Amino acid sequence: LIFAFWGAVYFFVERRKDEEKEKRLIEKILLSSRTPILVFDREKNIIYASKEIDNLLGYEDIKSKLIEDIYVKEEEGEEEEGVMISKKGERIPVRIKKSRIFDELKKEIVAVVWVIEDLRKTQRITFEKERFKTVLTQMGEGVIVFSKEEGIVFANEKAKEFFGIDDILGKNRYGLFGEKADKMIDFDEVYEREEVFSQIVEFNNRVFIVTFSPVDFGEGDYRMAVMRDVTEFFKMRKELEEKVEELKKQRGAILNLAEDLKEKNEELLRMQEILINQEKLASIGELAAGVAHELNNPLTTILTMIDLLLLEENFTEEEKNSLKSIKDEALRMRGIIQDLLTFARKKGESKHDVKLNEIINKAEILLKTRLKHEGVDVIKDLSDIPVIIGNSDRLIQVFINLFNNSIDAMDKMEKRIFIKTEFDKEKRKVRVIFEDNGCGMDDETRKRIFDPFFTTKKSGTGLGLSIVYGIIKDHSGNIFVESKIGGGTRFKIEFPVRGEK
Ligand SMILES: Nc1ncnc2c1ncn2[C@@H]1O[C@H](COP(=O)(O)OP(=O)(O)OP(=O)(O)O)[C@@H](O)[C@H]1O
Ligand SMILES: [Mg+2]
Repeated sequence: LIFAFWGAVYFFVERRKDEEKEKRLIEKILLSSRTPILVFDREKNIIYASKEIDNLLGYEDIKSKLIEDIYVKEEEGEEEEGVMISKKGERIPVRIKKSRIFDELKKEIVAVVWVIEDLRKTQRITFEKERFKTVLTQMGEGVIVFSKEEGIVFANEKAKEFFGIDDILGKNRYGLFGEKADKMIDFDEVYEREEVFSQIVEFNNRVFIVTFSPVDFGEGDYRMAVMRDVTEFFKMRKELEEKVEELKKQRGAILNLAEDLKEKNEELLRMQEILINQEKLASIGELAAGVAHELNNPLTTILTMIDLLLLEENFTEEEKNSLKSIKDEALRMRGIIQDLLTFARKKGESKHDVKLNEIINKAEILLKTRLKHEGVDVIKDLSDIPVIIGNSDRLIQVFINLFNNSIDAMDKMEKRIFIKTEFDKEKRKVRVIFEDNGCGMDDETRKRIFDPFFTTKKSGTGLGLSIVYGIIKDHSGNIFVESKIGGGTRFKIEFPVRGEK
């Protein structure tokens, strides 16, 4: 612009074709110029001032001023520096480029033109740059400032260390990263984005978090990249992740082991319980068989005698009723003896293919009257299960006892027995779940229910469940019980499927 202006001035002054027209043109150029320009005559009177002079200094009547009023020079020359004083008294550092306009005809200088440069901006930039440099040099992070055109214009020591290049200034992305540059950093994005953003970049076998941001020096499109070396951090993180993985694995193993141990322990406890019961059963079984046998003969005699007595005519009605009660009690005794004998019966009875679902249905039919009378709902979920080997009569006995106990335990308005059969393919076992919503029992009771003669009932024998237990054992099965006071009782019975133990 300045040179264009000079060309114009020179052209018009030299030719002097139409002086007035030229004058107006020059004035126009001066007025519209974005550069502060002053033109003096030989007496140093200001004859022209560009609009920027008004903006810079703020005088409305600059033409009435003497140059001494508004300018203090610091050094003399064609290009000199000095201070301009604005209307507000502000001292503005300036650089002045002087030119003289020479009249060829008169052979004399007719005017002097000053093109003025406001140094404040430049100084500020320089100052900012310096301050910036000091801070950046001392930073622990690597810092580079760069532009598309100039490449790197600044780099602190750390940055040079990171790149491994001392002579780094002027280097562009290819100079730094080689051909890989575009793969690592999207430089177009760096120049496009006006906000701060970070990226993880790997080079020279290290990992960096690089934060890009635009830098405003008031000129040029500079970007700054702050590089933090996070190699160690990444290494630590990786190690940590590996450790965590390993720990997880170990924990998994420990948990598995714990689970295993728990299972084994439970099994041991079950085995122990089974053994204790078996032992009890064995000894009591022998005793019971003996006693039952001993009792059975006199009892048969008693019953026969009563039947004979009942045939006598001599007794009163009252006496006959007493005799009937004696007979009832004797019959009850025979029932108990029968139970004892069932309980004590040794193995070796005939066994055949048995369908457990049918056994359950038969037991239910036998108890139909009692269930109906007590208002108990039986819900069944019998699935298609393999047959087992067993003795139906004895197995029916098992479920009759379970039904009776459950009915005895009913204490709610809604009385329910739930029976489910299923096949455990993995264990190769047939399973029956027999559950009621009755009164349930406490742990003390639960532990003793399979004991012979253990009962909590007024007229119970306590033989029911020991018989159940004996029969199930005799079928190579198992019985488990879960119960909670007020929460019902659940029996789980398992038999091996035919052909498997
Ligand atoms: N389904 C059940 N709900 C609550 N308690 C039960 C249940 N089944 C058994 N019991 C408890 O176990 C005890 C022992 O039961 P078991 O069948 O061996 O004898 P019993 O029922 O008392 O006598 P019996 O069978 O000769 O009538 C019962 O007295 C009862 O306390
Ligand atoms: Mg019972």
